[in-house]
Parts: sequence; C-alpha cells; structure tokens
Amino acid sequence: MQKYIYGIDFGTSNSALAILDLETRECIKLFTIPSLLFFQEPKVKGEFTQVSVGQEAIDKYVENRMNGRFMKSIKKVLPNKSFIDTRIGNKMYKAEDLVSFILIYLKKSADEFLGENIKTAVIGRPVVFDENPEKDTLAQTRLDKAAKIAGFENIHFQLEPMGAAHTYEREIANSELVLVADFGGGTSDFSLIKLKSDGLGLSNENQEIIGQGGIYIGGDNFDSDIMWSKGTPHFGRGVKEEFTPGKPLDLPLSYFQNICSWDKMNFLDTLRMKLSIEKSYQFSGKNQRVKNLQILISENLGYSFFKEIEKAKIGLTKEEEVNLKFQSNGINIEENISLEIFENEIIKENLSKIEGYLEQFLKDKKVDFKDIDVVFMTGGTSMVKPLKAIFEKNFGIEKLKSGDNFNSVAIGLAYSYLSLSTVEIA
Ligand SMILES: Nc1ncnc2c1ncn2[C@@H]1O[C@H](COP(=O)(O)OP(=O)(O)OP(=O)(O)O)[C@@H](O)[C@H]1O
Ligand SMILES: [Mg+2]
Repeated sequence: MQKYIYGIDFGTSNSALAILDLETRECIKLFTIPSLLFFQEPKVKGEFTQVSVGQEAIDKYVENRMNGRFMKSIKKVLPNKSFIDTRIGNKMYKAEDLVSFILIYLKKSADEFLGENIKTAVIGRPVVFDENPEKDTLAQTRLDKAAKIAGFENIHFQLEPMGAAHTYEREIANSELVLVADFGGGTSDFSLIKLKSDGLGLSNENQEIIGQGGIYIGGDNFDSDIMWSKGTPHFGRGVKEEFTPGKPLDLPLSYFQNICSWDKMNFLDTLRMKLSIEKSYQFSGKNQRVKNLQILISENLGYSFFKEIEKAKIGLTKEEEVNLKFQSNGINIEENISLEIFENEIIKENLSKIEGYLEQFLKDKKVDFKDIDVVFMTGGTSMVKPLKAIFEKNFGIEKLKSGDNFNSVAIGLAYSYLSLSTVEIA
C-alpha cells in the first residue's frame, strides 16, 4: 500500500500542497507558493524561455527589470473558452501547460522531501469555476490535464470548501451545522455542511452537504477598489482632454478600468493604446498625471504598484490608518487610507454584494443565521476586518472559527482522501 498522498489547493493567488501519511493519518508537511509564473525574455528572438515559478518568479521578474512575461491569476484562465494558447518565445502554451508548472513545482518539492514519486492527489476545485456549465467542465478538464502533465495518475477532485470542512471536522465532538466561508483572491465560496463527528475523520456518511455557492468577489477585487479610488486619480482619472478648444472631455474610462485589474493592464501596452494615451497627454496640456499613466505602462510598474496596494490592505487588518506610498521613475504617490473610508467607501459596494449573496444563499437553503452552529472562515481575505465584521454582526463572534488561512484547504483535501479511501486503498 502506498504510504503518502498529496492534497493540493491550486489557488488564484497562492497554491499549497499537504503531504498526508496514510498510516498515521496525519499531515506531515506543507508547501505553499504564490501562484505565479515568469518567462524570461529570450536573449535570441524566438528562442525557448526558461520558466520560473512561485517566489522565484517574482525574484526573476524584478531581477530582469520587469522584462519578460509575468503571469498572475492563471487559475482564471481555466474556464476561459477563448484562451486557446499563448506564444512565449518559440513555444505555444495551453492553459493546462501553464497550470502544470505550478503543480510540477509543488510535486517536485514534496517528492524530493519524501524521496519518492507520489502519483495520487486530491485536488481542490472551487464550487463554481464558471456559472456556464460548459466552461465549468472545461476548467476541471484542464486542471485534470495539468495534473497528468505534472505526473499524477490517480487524481481525485474535491470542492475546496469541503477541504476546509475536513480540516475543521477533526476538532468537533458533536453534530454541527457548519458554514464554511472561503475568501480567496478571486472568489468567496460558501458551503453549508452538516457534520457529525465520530472522531475518526469525516466519512461520507458523516457529512451532508446542504448547499454550496460562490460569488466572484475576493480580495483582489478589494485591491482593484483601492486602485480605483486612491490610484487612478494619480493616473489621469478626472483629467480632461481638449481636442476641440472649449470642449473638454473626460479621458477614456477604459484606461482606468484596465489599470484596476492586474490581468487587464497589458491591454494598454499595445501600439494603438499607447498612441491614444500619448494623444490624451498632449491634449490634456501635458498633464503630469497622464504622464504617470504612460510611465506605469511603459515601465511595467503594475505589479509593484499592486504590491503596495495589497500591503496597504493587509496593513488595515491591524491598523486604523495606513499610508499607500509609491515612488518610481518620477511617479510620486502618497495617500492615506483609513479603515473607516476603506469600509464605508472603497470596498463598500463589493462588501454589500458579498453580504447580499450570503443572505440570499441562506434564504434559498431555508436556513436562518441563528441555525448555523459554526462559521469556519478561511482564505487570505478572511482577515479583512470589515468582512469579518459582517460575520460577527450576523452570527455572533463566538460562532466564528478559523484555522490556517492559507493551508487549511490543502490539509483538508488531503484528509478527505481518507473518506474516499475505504474503497480505494483496500
Ligand atoms: N494578511 C492578510 N490580510 C488580508 N488579506 C490578505 C492577507 N494575506 C493575503 N491576503 C489576500 O488574500 C487573497 C489570497 O487569498 P488565498 O491565498 O486564500 O486565495 P486563493 O486560494 O489563492 O484564491 P481563490 O481561493 O480565490 O482561488 C489575496 O487577495 C491577498 O491579497
Ligand atoms: Mg483558496
């Protein structure tokens, strides 16, 4: 019998692998990496480019002065039907190829640790990759292909929130109605699960899924919100361009929509868009803020700026006020953000959407807030104070539980193997 299996949580921002020892039924090791890829610009045009993964992708990207292809949020590519492949150097990469780099990296780290080649994995998937069933299936098929490319042969899929439930279940003594709320970078997922503990791990008979749902709003949307309200004014939002004297016009909204999202920022890095921005610069009376936009694009500063935004957001989980600071290539931005403004203005709309979704979700399942025994919150975004406040208000602070926000899904995915395994290991 095999001794180890892996639980893998492939996330939009971070990915984690947990090694489960099937004999002791314990997780013995964790590997966590940012879900990032970097392809260095080839020295000779058309030549193969080496890929860097995780933290190394960030280091290489910075080392190469932001030249090359830096890829973030590749999970979002999975359900995208119009993404066939992308050319990097002299090679074409399909979605599964890109994702496989993350899985290969994690598998290699864990295999090296064990000195074995493990071929069995429980891989998480969100409750919804996409509302369109065809795209949802496409996403899982691609993830399955990626896992095969990485060298896995026995692949089991499990819903990410069920992973979190499996982690939590090891702590309970009685039957409980648990709401698992997983707040990641791109999505917020909810699962309503009836758990009965027999102290032996969560078997299929001891879990009843009452409902699952999710909304495409996560921590990265909060970053975009900060960019919109505190960043874009420094890049020309509010500036006018005057093609016809006496008839000032707003700059195209698309400039600012594109810079609010990391994966859209390179849409502005085309000749057509660059010419358009140059025209805006000239007809705005050479406004410095439009110049900032040009620098942001030409110097590829999006990643570093969003890093500062994320830092400010994380700062607000501890401080009442933070300073968003960015100085580079002549851009000089300094903005104060208070927790109050963050909550009541900057992320207000997205927060209400999450709360509205949760209310409707429970209503549809005919469950009242007070019927829930425990809310298990996980994911990096679960640390955002105003979001936590919504849960405290609706459920009461005593019902809120949490574990390792970045690893509880991977750990639970690995544990969940024990409940499938009655059939498969024997
Ligand atoms: N200390 C923190 N406080 C608040 N937010 C944080 C903190 N650390 C990370 N985040 C945010 O958490 C998000 C990433 O969370 P997580 O790693 O759980 O997501 P993921 O699992 O990769 O994404 P998804 O589940 O949507 O696929 C990012 O938006 C990040 O900015
Ligand atoms: Mg996640």
